[in-house]
Amino acid sequence: MKTSLTGIKPTNNPHLGNYLGAIRPALALARSYRTLYFIADYHALTTVRDPALLRQYTRDVTAAWIASGLDPAQTLLYRQSDVREVFELAWVLSCLLATGQLERGHAYKAALDRGEAPSAGVFNYPVLMAADILLYDAHVVPVGEDQRQHIELTRDVAKRLNHLYGEGTLVVPEALVDDAPLVPGTDGEKMSKSRGNALPLFAPASELRKAVMRIATSSEPLEAPKEPEGSVVYRLYRQVAPARADEMATKLRAGGYGWGHAKQDLFEALEAELGPKRERYQAIRADEAGLEATLAAGAERARAIAAATMRRVRHAVGID
Ligand code: TRP
Repeated sequence: MKTSLTGIKPTNNPHLGNYLGAIRPALALARSYRTLYFIADYHALTTVRDPALLRQYTRDVTAAWIASGLDPAQTLLYRQSDVREVFELAWVLSCLLATGQLERGHAYKAALDRGEAPSAGVFNYPVLMAADILLYDAHVVPVGEDQRQHIELTRDVAKRLNHLYGEGTLVVPEALVDDAPLVPGTDGEKMSKSRGNALPLFAPASELRKAVMRIATSSEPLEAPKEPEGSVVYRLYRQVAPARADEMATKLRAGGYGWGHAKQDLFEALEAELGPKRERYQAIRADEAGLEATLAAGAERARAIAAATMRRVRHAVGID
């Protein structure tokens, strides 16, 4: 069975966009791959500078994935920072990477374009990410389109190391870019925390309902026929309740069914999907000792894999 690995950056409390766009598709892979999913807390350090907040997000994200259906007995779930070998491998890889390749990094270039003075952490981000992947012999890496360049760099450096030091030293991974449609936020743009257009994932039902009612819609009268395509309510409904989406489209086109009705139906579909998970989330999140124990058990298994890879790499490069 092939291995699928991905990293989750704990930079926010997950919202509906994270759930539909990343969590749900990644969890579906657990049926056909051996899965390793980790909390990339050292990567979060490029933006999260508040230690209490980093701890909080790490636990929020861990609890959100478990509540969403990740079974830690089946998926190896661990915290990046618990496996120090990743820095050892990152150094070896950095010695094989040209600075020019990192200078062409999208995220680094975007920070420069915004007039920021990016840290060396932002510059080296792709090296640590390559180490994350190569340390665990991952075959596929489910990521969003924005991460494709990082996987290309990972492939390049793995091939270079294999070429120089021996074929088979590292597994050359492939990106698995999900073709799921973009998840729109309340304003129709991509849902993101920074835009302030996100629907909460595990907030109380009353708060979720209020957020759904805030979704921007056109203002035709109730009787008027309405075009579902392109509307945020319908786009979200199609992702949450695909089996009933045609029905909503028909009702909208027929007239006599308002955007308020559509929002209520969307809220009910969300509640059906998220309600039971919200209860699980609250119980898991409240048990911090239990969360730590889950991550500690994952770390132990992850370290065994990492140690074996580093033995191979150290020997290959001449450091035993
Ligand atoms: N860079 C990824 C993101 O921003 C997170 C990440 C860190 C990651 N290490 C990884 C993803 C390794 C896949 C594999 O979403």
